[in-house]
Amino acid sequence: AYPEFVKIVEVGPRDGLQNEKEIVPTGVKIQLIDMLSGTGLSVIEATSFVSSKWVPQMADHTDVLRGIQRASNVQYPVLTPNLQGFQDAVAAGATEVAVFGSASETFSKKNINCSVDESMLRFEEVINAAKKRQIPVRGYVSCALGCPHEGHIEPSKVAEVAKRLYEMGCYEISLGDTIGIGTPGSMLKMLQRVMKDVPINALAVHCHDTYGQALPNILTALQMGVSVVDSAVAGLGGCPYAQGSSGNVSTEDVLYMLHGMGIETGVNIAKVIEAGSFICSALSRKTNSKVAQARSTA
Ligand code: HMG
Ligand code: MG
Repeated sequence: AYPEFVKIVEVGPRDGLQNEKEIVPTGVKIQLIDMLSGTGLSVIEATSFVSSKWVPQMADHTDVLRGIQRASNVQYPVLTPNLQGFQDAVAAGATEVAVFGSASETFSKKNINCSVDESMLRFEEVINAAKKRQIPVRGYVSCALGCPHEGHIEPSKVAEVAKRLYEMGCYEISLGDTIGIGTPGSMLKMLQRVMKDVPINALAVHCHDTYGQALPNILTALQMGVSVVDSAVAGLGGCPYAQGSSGNVSTEDVLYMLHGMGIETGVNIAKVIEAGSFICSALSRKTNSKVAQARSTA
């Protein structure tokens, strides 16, 4: 049975923009987040407190977080790879953070410059500091369906990393198909294994659409009982340390599918399309959302 309600985690302002070559003006990022805040979304990942040498696009994290108009019913998590990022995030007013680990050793090195074990020590520091302030921490597991360097990733490795994050105190674990290489077949196998170690209601899926498999992969996850889906307005995105990763699945397309299935999200699709057309015109870009394309020519 499918869930009756699905929570959408909008990652466009972070995952969607982090890979843009040209620096997007801070005001544009703020306006995008403010538009998304009025759509009914309950979670909008706003920015990353990572090194600006590594990801220049996120260098304005503090100004973005301070500049947005927070809606009372919306959470605005930010990525924090280590204690320094966490402290900077808190100083900028963050009330929720996310740590991001990987099921692939090579990807961990390339993305956050440490091994998976080392990353867990850093995340433990972040999580402990967050607990003291009652700040919820979300956890990511990248490369859950494959790695740009190592190729196949064993579901047991995904389960191990997910379990460690969950046991350390992450309230939700987002399983990332970072390079969008998975299929319903690999999604099924991976989830069957991870569900043995982490309760299904604490799992989210984070699909990139590189191979055009994101919607079927999400549908598979829903069938397994997952009820939290990450997506990006206009299908923006990609990871700067995952060559070949294209955009996230588009929020508009996920909403269209869910609403068509009678699954509630609380999100107004027309307003998300508006936010998408705003950011696409700011980036001089065509939307990656099929639904937005269809609606604009209708
Ligand atoms: P490092 O160079 O190993 O860090 O980078 P370090 O601890 O050795 O410190 C070196 C310098 O960086 C020092 O400055 C630190 O202060 C500074 P210096 O003394 O040279 O002037 N530094 C920082 N500056 C700002 N913010 C910080 C911070 N920490 C140290 N938090 C680090 C390690 C983790 C910082 C770096 O590798 C990094 O920033 N990586 C982030 C990469 C990233 O953002 N990737 C994209 C997000 S992940 C993703 O997209 C996947 C996901 O969407 C899920 C999926 O799709 O699967 C989540
Ligand atoms: Mg991603």
